Amino acid sequence: MKIIGITASPHEKGNTATLVNKSLEAVAAKGAETEHIDLAKLTINPCKGCNYCKAHDTCVQKDDFGKVMEKVVAADAILMGSPVYFFDITAQEKIFIDRLFACVDAQSKSRVPPGKKIGFIYSQNTPDRSAFDVNLDKYNQVAGMLGIESVGKYVSVGSVSENPSEIDGAVALAEKLL
Ligand SMILES: Cc1cc2nc3c(=O)[nH]c(=O)nc-3n(C[C@H](O)[C@H](O)[C@H](O)COP(=O)(O)O)c2cc1C
Repeated sequence: MKIIGITASPHEKGNTATLVNKSLEAVAAKGAETEHIDLAKLTINPCKGCNYCKAHDTCVQKDDFGKVMEKVVAADAILMGSPVYFFDITAQEKIFIDRLFACVDAQSKSRVPPGKKIGFIYSQNTPDRSAFDVNLDKYNQVAGMLGIESVGKYVSVGSVSENPSEIDGAVALAEKLL
């Protein structure tokens, strides 16, 4: 089974990257093939809203989004990681999500092959892990629209290097993808 981790933080070695990479290591130890994709290292432009993807089965923009989608299509599961920025996901993740419009046809039917799972990892400073549920849980609807089963989320609080037990929560979520 192949599990890809996609992170949407500007910090290459920050809390989100640590949580996702440690989780990928854990599922790799249980036999999964893994790969980490760092959106901050890629060029993914905002959706143009041009609807080209409704008449064609691809996006009109030829940037790095296509390469990531090829990996999503080839994967069995996705671990999606983002820091919380102003009570919600980062702009990097939102831009990526908007581009997923290209994975839905003119009849709102998903072009993503069925049978995939996704788990969401979030990193925030606010001690209340449920503080932003109303904003973060709506991304289950994106997964639903694409026909990808959500196994839920893990919200990590504070610095992972100072609180390494946060990794346990992320790993437990990632293991639900196996
Ligand atoms: C622009 C910005 C907005 C933020 N907004 C919030 C917020 O609304 N709530 C919160 O708890 N933490 C917020 N934070 C803190 C980050 O979520 C936190 O430091 C996170 O662990 C950073 O993850 P990273 O190391 O992967 O980049 C914000 C940080 C930045 C830079």
